[in-house]
Amino acid sequence: MKIINIGSLNIDYVYQVDDFVAGGETKLSEAMKIFSGGKGLNQSIALRRAGAEVYHGGLIGSDGAFLKELLQQEGVNTDFISTVEGSTGHAIIQVNNHGENCILLFGGANQLFTTEGIDTILASFNKGDYVLLQNEINHMDYIINKAYDLGLKIILNPSPINDKLKSYLLYKVSTFILNEVEGSALTDREEPESILNELTSKYPNSEFVLTLGSKGVIYAHQEERIAVPAQKVTPVDTTAAGDTFTGYYLSAILMGKTVKEALELATAAAALSVTRPGAAPSIPVLSEILI
Ligand code: ATP
Ligand code: RIB
Repeated sequence: MKIINIGSLNIDYVYQVDDFVAGGETKLSEAMKIFSGGKGLNQSIALRRAGAEVYHGGLIGSDGAFLKELLQQEGVNTDFISTVEGSTGHAIIQVNNHGENCILLFGGANQLFTTEGIDTILASFNKGDYVLLQNEINHMDYIINKAYDLGLKIILNPSPINDKLKSYLLYKVSTFILNEVEGSALTDREEPESILNELTSKYPNSEFVLTLGSKGVIYAHQEERIAVPAQKVTPVDTTAAGDTFTGYYLSAILMGKTVKEALELATAAAALSVTRPGAAPSIPVLSEILI
């Protein structure tokens, strides 16, 4: 069984601020650092650091060669990463003194997937293999439909959520790993229980992992619910907490752990990631996690 993560590769420009800049305001940041990022890249690294074998499908411009090199150093298979004309995707990230962030994305190469390119990637995978997706690349609907027709199991982190994503045939997704904002957008409900009741009745064949930041996580499948609280930590930078959680949860499930064990492992990994700056660099390796 193989995992292909078709997802974004970004250069993250991270600005430390006391408070986020407001509309019409100009602000001097306290520091700026450049990190490797992108939900796709972060999740491939999290899968790998959790011990899984992973293939990454992605697009970079010539300025993003270091992102591919990082994935290679981590042991991710990069055969399906191509270089295209134009710039690599990037993110402008403000991190405030509470470790919270706000992110502005430029899609760049991440938005230049072609259906032919996707067909080439998926041709190397078979029924029963897994495809992991986020929502930072184009042709998401094509990938979902094609992967489903090939019998691949689709794991979707619908982030960042937008109206386009809501129009896709989401019953084809095996497991959603989503936060409260994404859950609310998909259901028009606010409370976690209500979000999950709506999702499980809308998509009875799918599993849901609803992450709730410092409040933890709830798993739902049909009538079943499993809740795990977050660990108590002092956040430095929550960027990539969700990505760390996704990679660790999926890796644990693939290794045959129970859902509860996978939730606990992912919770511990995500808690460590929020105590560290940056996206990819904040993701722990398995040996650092004590549960
Ligand atoms: P992000 O977009 O910041 O990467 P997200 O919004 O996708 O994250 P969250 O629900 O905020 O996802 O966080 C995912 C998981 O990370 C949570 O379920 C929790 O286990 C852990 N986590 C996030 N924030 C905290 C925190 N402040 N303290 C402890 N654990 C946290
Ligand atoms: O989830 C964190 C990621 O979101 C960052 O690395 C940034 O690139 C954006 O894609």
